[in-house]
Amino acid sequence: MAPSTPSPEAAPEAVNPLAEGLESDRRAPPCALVVYGASGDLTHRKLAPALEALAADRRLSPNFAVVGVGRTPLSDEEFRARMLEAVSKPSAAWEALVGGFRYVAGGYTDGPTFERLREVLDEVDAAVGTDGNRVHYLATPPDVFAGVAGALGEHGLNEPGRQGCFVRLVVEKPYGRDLASALALDDAIHESFREEQVYRIDHYLGKETVQNVLALRFANAIFEPIWNRRYVDHVQITVAESLGVGHRGGFYETAGALRDIVQNHVLQVLALTVMEPPATVDAKGIRDEKVKALRAVDIPTHDEVTIDVVRGQYEAGWVEGEEVGGYRQEKGVGPDSRTETYVAMRVDVDNWRWAGVPFYLRTGKRLPKRVTEVSMEFRDVPHLPFGSKETRGLGPNALVLRIQPDEGIALRFGAKVPGQAFRVRSVAMDFAYGAAFLEETPDAYERLLLDAMVGDPTLFIRADEVEQAWKVVAPVQEVWTDDATPLARYRAGSWGPREADRLLERDGRRWRSP
Ligand code: BG6
Repeated sequence: MAPSTPSPEAAPEAVNPLAEGLESDRRAPPCALVVYGASGDLTHRKLAPALEALAADRRLSPNFAVVGVGRTPLSDEEFRARMLEAVSKPSAAWEALVGGFRYVAGGYTDGPTFERLREVLDEVDAAVGTDGNRVHYLATPPDVFAGVAGALGEHGLNEPGRQGCFVRLVVEKPYGRDLASALALDDAIHESFREEQVYRIDHYLGKETVQNVLALRFANAIFEPIWNRRYVDHVQITVAESLGVGHRGGFYETAGALRDIVQNHVLQVLALTVMEPPATVDAKGIRDEKVKALRAVDIPTHDEVTIDVVRGQYEAGWVEGEEVGGYRQEKGVGPDSRTETYVAMRVDVDNWRWAGVPFYLRTGKRLPKRVTEVSMEFRDVPHLPFGSKETRGLGPNALVLRIQPDEGIALRFGAKVPGQAFRVRSVAMDFAYGAAFLEETPDAYERLLLDAMVGDPTLFIRADEVEQAWKVVAPVQEVWTDDATPLARYRAGSWGPREADRLLERDGRRWRSP
């Protein structure tokens, strides 16, 4: 059933979490969360614990239920037991809710699955009072996203049953494998759901410290005036992981770091770093500016890809005191795999604010530690009135936004070393989230699940954003299909291949050591 236009969901993107989202107001209305892939890893590891935390925090309505859909045959009781087991210490609030959860076993595109689902949703409305409100959550393998969305349309589960209730579709990543498949997925989804109903997840946007990039930039008078080419020499964005691919080798073989991290998490952090101040801090204001920012990212030519992008793969080594095998020895990975586990690239942002400022992006698995940060290095003073001996310990001014772990912000500047001589060296002014706030940081999925139920799309990716992000990485994907393109190897536990160092050395710069 194709979506019709006028409906409550088509109302302007009204809720404004960042401006109006007072803690106490943020409670989900009655609703059924239908999770496809309910017997899978994501539901167990992320969704159930996040929902439990929301329940314990009284963010969920008492009229809330999960309806799990999956291929594994499970009874309602078995599903409920799993939802309890997924949480180490389930709260009484969670235990009370779980009693109303239901499970539908079946193929993701089979008619009977959706006939049964419709009956179960009606029963849940009657038993739990979910009021006809539904959030469909696609936590399945991506190859069935389009099929489930289509089946929901065919069975009339894509539209509210009556005026005043809502139906939304949350889609996990990966959203497509490349530009063409992402556009095809959009077309398929839009056959059944209007764009306003679609909530595409990038869990990085649910992280408090990623949202804090907006607070830092737009709630302070002192940073924005220097946040541009006049003062910034270059920016480094690092998403480093110490883990390897674990049991996800089979999946990772079809993904690689470019698709898995760069196209989404890294480019989202980049967009928030470079975007212009929005007129209003709401879904439209922020997402319009992010799209504009991504459109300004220079799309590399094939020749530029060979110069500005480094692709790497880890070999055996030592990480955090443990000896680990190389990527090619991981389960599910071929012995001659050319899948990248590391990417470093230079991008330019061609607009008035950033022209000429290089952005160096890097991500990798099996690096020395897990750290995500944005580091902005500033230009030197026009004239340093001290001798080189006195300033031996002085580095450039830098502002480092530590996104995880050890969340905080550090500002590096020069200070006089106490003593008779006029020696100057770098010191850091450090803000640590944990020390400044007593509030617990909600997990990214808590935030995003609540937003989807409340109907706030600000922290979800709009169709035009996904499209633009794929356009930025498309030339890299095209060049890398050629088996002759080099794959640099790096030792597990190192900061990546030598080629990545050369990428910056060429420009007279160095990677920061986080
Ligand atoms: C996921 C990737 O999107 O993000 C994983 O698929 C990666 O490969 C993970 O490990 C990293 O997320 P976080 O929140 O641990 O930084």
